[in-house]
Amino acid sequence: MSEPIKFFLPGPSYVPEDARQAMTKPVVGHRSAAFKDLYLRIAARLPQVLRTAGDVMVATGSSTLIMESAVVSCVRQDVLNLTNGAFSERWHAISKAVGKSADKISAPWGQALDPDLVRSALRRKRYDAVTLVHNETSTGVMSPLADVARAVREESDALILVDTVSSLGGAPVETDAWGLDVVLAGTQKAIAVPPGLTLLTLSERAAERAAQVPHRGYYTDLLRYRDKHREGGTITTPAIPLFYALDIQLDCILAEGMEARWRRHEGLYRRTAEWAAARGCEYASAANARSVTVSCLKPPAGVDPQAIVKELAQRGYTIGGGYGDWKPTTFRIGHMGEVREGDLEALLVEIDQILERVAAPAVR
Ligand SMILES: Cc1ncc(COP(=O)(O)O)c(C=O)c1O
Repeated sequence: MSEPIKFFLPGPSYVPEDARQAMTKPVVGHRSAAFKDLYLRIAARLPQVLRTAGDVMVATGSSTLIMESAVVSCVRQDVLNLTNGAFSERWHAISKAVGKSADKISAPWGQALDPDLVRSALRRKRYDAVTLVHNETSTGVMSPLADVARAVREESDALILVDTVSSLGGAPVETDAWGLDVVLAGTQKAIAVPPGLTLLTLSERAAERAAQVPHRGYYTDLLRYRDKHREGGTITTPAIPLFYALDIQLDCILAEGMEARWRRHEGLYRRTAEWAAARGCEYASAANARSVTVSCLKPPAGVDPQAIVKELAQRGYTIGGGYGDWKPTTFRIGHMGEVREGDLEALLVEIDQILERVAAPAVR
């Protein structure tokens, strides 16, 4: 019997017991045959998760490292950042911080990215790359990645650099079928491994372009990752215990099957939406753009979202507060990774009890 999950942050997410236990194994040398075996075993399965025939590498470092590496490695000069929340804004901040010429087109927080706006921007100017976030964890918005990627491909030769940090493993991400060039995701969300590793792909055309970009840095050079990966290892000393956990979690993910996993996440979202509607909790994300891994909700009128978060903590449950400007008005339920419907039901019962106690009379 697996333990009940009471941890619903929109990342890091709950890590199963066997993956946690695996991390207590002794470390081995990272240039040893034992590590190479482990790395190759992981590398052989990851393409099924990212849906690519290409290489999937594992970097030690959080997702932000690989966001920066993708810009440094793949953008010669001009980059278009598509923004609709805090993490897509991070792509823009990174692009400027590393000295690229960065334009952005933005959708309001809570809205999805609009492929038509992307098309118009690409007709006005040529870019080396376009960046976006598939699932904005800050707002609970999932953008139509396939449609945006199609717009970029049809209008330009710009590379598509995608943050799938809080969607990979919980929603379809079709790296090859959608023509994505760099797909990156930290392991601490729907993959359900502790933070510290980032999975990434690099398409052949992205590798060819990167080869033309001078000064790709050292820890940020995606070609270096790819070359070392092809030798069966990592560029520097990796976070070995996290690889043990990833090894175990990949078995769990692939035993469930990607499609079944996506369906389970869809079901968790639907159940949350049904519950929210019955309780007068409104989604902060537009109806056509809701994430299946994180629900960003406004409590009923008169209820402080931070009070819900605090009361839940006293009951042993963890959910996320609102992010940035949305902190005073929203709370976020991460229904991702290994969360099952029974776990979610138990959480919703706890929130019901809290709402009963604190809700304004009007919503009782
Ligand atoms: C969508 C998204 N992108 C990027 C990040 C940044 O990840 P990290 O803190 O692992 O660098 C996060 C973190 O929550 C995220 O949710």
